[in-house]
Amino acid sequence: MSKVLVTGGAGYIGSHVAKALLQQGYDIIIYDNMENGCESAIVGGTLVKADLADETSLSEVFSKAKVNAVIHFAGYSLVAESMAAPQEYYYNNVVNGLNLLKVMRRYNVKKFVFSSSAAVYGEPLKLPITEKHPTSPTNTYGETKLIFEKVLERYAGSYGLASVSLRYFNAAGADPEGQIGENHNPETHLIPLLLQRVLKGDRSEFSIFGDGYNTPDGTCIRDYVHVTDLARAHALALEALETPKKKFSVYNLGCGTGYSVLQVLKAVERVTGSNIPYKICAPRTGDPAVLVAGWEKIKCDLGWVPEFNDLDKIIATAWCWLKKSRRV
Ligand code: UFG
Repeated sequence: MSKVLVTGGAGYIGSHVAKALLQQGYDIIIYDNMENGCESAIVGGTLVKADLADETSLSEVFSKAKVNAVIHFAGYSLVAESMAAPQEYYYNNVVNGLNLLKVMRRYNVKKFVFSSSAAVYGEPLKLPITEKHPTSPTNTYGETKLIFEKVLERYAGSYGLASVSLRYFNAAGADPEGQIGENHNPETHLIPLLLQRVLKGDRSEFSIFGDGYNTPDGTCIRDYVHVTDLARAHALALEALETPKKKFSVYNLGCGTGYSVLQVLKAVERVTGSNIPYKICAPRTGDPAVLVAGWEKIKCDLGWVPEFNDLDKIIATAWCWLKKSRRV
């Protein structure tokens, strides 16, 4: 079975993908500087604790192991932080990524799956958002993802690099076996924040960022996609790279159904059996009102269909893991 290098494989999505690949019999190396990664999220494979800026460490990995393909998660991913510290985002998400591609070229590794984001689209002009939608990111984070996609497209043409870029909508949930889950520090995402409050017994009011959006209840609508479904998509992308029809492809990963912040809060109340008091606060800068994915393309090309298309079930997996791990 081929050897896959997973950068950022100790992070939330990376660790779920690593687990899925191990279950399919892939041999994996996790390359992670552990800045945001978590030891307990590594369920197998070999860990190389190093930074992508460290070309010597990277070269060593490729020279020792016969790496067949790379899945690239490592990078920063917080929208607000990317606006406060753009330099860090350009360096980590673009320059360090270029470093990785440079070393891959040196060792003639030509298969690449990239962890991208719906943030590349910016404010939607038309819903659902398909891959043909114009890309106009409203924040530095989304821009770094778009820049790197453009690099991949150029490298496909000039160097024959075969790559697939997966644009996630709102990744959510946890491993249904309860082994790994979402463990950011600090946590900024809606579902884990709500669940953590319930677990802690925190009865203070939860802050909802704005209720003046053009949506039925006035709060923002998002498309939540289960992390195990995301993991399956990466495995399918890897398989497709064995005989790629195109050298560079982009795919949206979402369920095509939107839930408002209030609907998510109510779903968390149903799943946990707890009441969550809330207050409406000022809207968060750069939050689009509605983000819902068109995901026909990946269904047609790779046969991917989300198995978790029920919000309560998605939340239930996250709740199970959180209770078990008590990470609050
Ligand atoms: N929200 C609140 N209160 C909170 C936290 C979040 O009301 O305390 C709201 C947000 O304003 C947003 C929704 O809940 O409307 C979801 O917020 P998240 O932070 O969970 O997710 P985002 O939609 O902001 O971000 C996600 C990914 C990003 C990606 C973005 C674009 O985390 O990496 O989708 O698709 F860039």
